[in-house]
Amino acid sequence: MSYRVSVLQFEPRLLDLKANLARLERLLRDVETDLVVLPELCTSGYVFASREETESVSESIPDGPAFGLISALAWERKCSVVYGFAERDGSRLYNSCALVNPDGSHHLYRKTHLFNREKLFFSSGNTGLKVSPAKDGVKVGLMVCFDWQFPEAARTLALKGAQIICHPSNLVLPWCQQAMITRSLENRVFSITANRTGTETNGGENLTFTGQSQILGTKGEILIRLNESETKLATCEIDPAEALDKSVTPRNDAFADRRPEFYEL
Ligand code: ACM
Repeated sequence: MSYRVSVLQFEPRLLDLKANLARLERLLRDVETDLVVLPELCTSGYVFASREETESVSESIPDGPAFGLISALAWERKCSVVYGFAERDGSRLYNSCALVNPDGSHHLYRKTHLFNREKLFFSSGNTGLKVSPAKDGVKVGLMVCFDWQFPEAARTLALKGAQIICHPSNLVLPWCQQAMITRSLENRVFSITANRTGTETNGGENLTFTGQSQILGTKGEILIRLNESETKLATCEIDPAEALDKSVTPRNDAFADRRPEFYEL
């Protein structure tokens, strides 16, 4: 099956939900794809100075404005969309992403491994690592940014049957894009890392995001890699069925050859 997958890289405006939604609407208005992945916290920006600030740009789903925009877009463009946002659930805030499908179904993931100052504002995710059906039933695993540091995350998604790992990100350390090559090839899955660009300064903090959003094949091939600063929507065609084949040599299978009795996890 030929399946179009896309990554969107751009620079959200800090604490300006309205401007970010208008920008997303413009950037995605003409998208022709089956699945598109947007960055982590793409509706709010990243460098929060307080919990109150974080809360001011958070929303619950399915009643929040970002969810409304994304689900309308998924329906109009007939594609699945994965996007990162600040989620409010009662008194708790989560660094979440959602998969929204053209048939109106949606699936939520709350970031498992919080990075640095995120721990001041967000609760650790409690959804676990989830695999959900995207358009045409393709199995998609969701993880967010710093989850890359823990190989157990991608491995869990692959063992649960993910064909494509969707990875909304706001990367600031220099290693993830290279590390994801190994995550893809050791698990024989496609991966889509959607990173943001730009620099944010707030509350004495200053962070520069590394761009270089990428789409990787099941052998770690770089199918698409953007540069550090461009705003771009990039698309390529893949066959998701390739991720079902875990064979490495005629006598080796990346999953069947595992020896979990010798692993400490
Ligand atoms: C990160 O997890 N946003 C670095």
